[in-house]
Amino acid sequence: MPDALKNELLQLVTDAPDLAALEEVRVAALGKKGRVTGLMKELGGLSPDERRERGAALNLLKDEIAAAIDARKADLNTAHLKARLEAERIDVTLPVRPEVEGRIHPISQTIDEIVAIFAEMGFTVADGPDVEDDFHNFTALNFPPGHPARDMHDTFYLPDAGDKKMLLRTHTSPVQVRTMLSKKPPIRVIIPGRTFRSDYDMTHTPMFHQVEGLVIDETTNMGHLKGCLIDFCRAFFDVDDLPLRFRPSFFPFTEPSAEVDIGCSRKGGELKLGNFGDWLEILGCGMVHPNVLEACGVDSTRYQGFAFGMGIERIAMLKYGIPDLRTFFEADLRWLKHYGFVPLDVPSLASGLTR
Ligand code: PHE
Repeated sequence: MPDALKNELLQLVTDAPDLAALEEVRVAALGKKGRVTGLMKELGGLSPDERRERGAALNLLKDEIAAAIDARKADLNTAHLKARLEAERIDVTLPVRPEVEGRIHPISQTIDEIVAIFAEMGFTVADGPDVEDDFHNFTALNFPPGHPARDMHDTFYLPDAGDKKMLLRTHTSPVQVRTMLSKKPPIRVIIPGRTFRSDYDMTHTPMFHQVEGLVIDETTNMGHLKGCLIDFCRAFFDVDDLPLRFRPSFFPFTEPSAEVDIGCSRKGGELKLGNFGDWLEILGCGMVHPNVLEACGVDSTRYQGFAFGMGIERIAMLKYGIPDLRTFFEADLRWLKHYGFVPLDVPSLASGLTR
């Protein structure tokens, strides 16, 4: 009898067209009121010998049916996944439909614009890891241990793992160090990337973007730094006579250091960029400190150069009139539709940075 039942049940398992049907088969056979369970219950009325023999046979049957159900379940799952992958297949060779598809995020667009301008001046793009060690983020950049500037960075430290203190980079400047350690001068790079500081309000988010610039050779001086940044700002903001003001400042890794303001007007509560007599700070810069050159294996008696760093969100907000920094990272589609850029509208100085 179990053989006939077994074949019947196995057939039902094989024929179950989907997971729901298979579950019904399982309940009907092995469930509390299932047929196999029912036979088990009848064992009580048998003689001890019969009970032993039939009990063993029923247990075997139960195991076989359960195994067959598991196997069928795995098959159905695989088939289901295959069908889904087939149905959701995306043809990446189809042309883009810019009028209905997604937008380029203003951060990506701004980085592309910055890269386009500096590429024209002969810079190449470099990058480095988001997770840094203390040496690259601070020590090699002439922040002595215990220096107050370390605290000003609101650093996110990672849980201790071994002898190296790891952190999320607080600026893109550690990539200056990596570049100098891996390349011989002359060096002319820009470094766009993510940076992290523990801060959150209208004008601060824990993750933001900076772009760093680094030029190292035998003759580059502060005049070149000024010329480079003046050209960049005028091209980026598309204001030909945009005035720049270099104010003395301090960074451990540059000497002398300066902060740069661009001309603006705030009349009537509206911000306009140009030669209007008012000023707005946008970046930090300076001549690379000899200690930094030496920490990176660059002979400071032969080489010199400049570095600068600026916040990408900040200049994007200024250029595109985006009022709140936090909205950059809320992933709100309506915001992206409004402030985003059409794909394939690739910025270049020849075709215009934005249209
Ligand atoms: N790293 C500095 C900051 O995050 C900016 C900077 C870069 C200043 C390079 C000078 C030179 O504030």
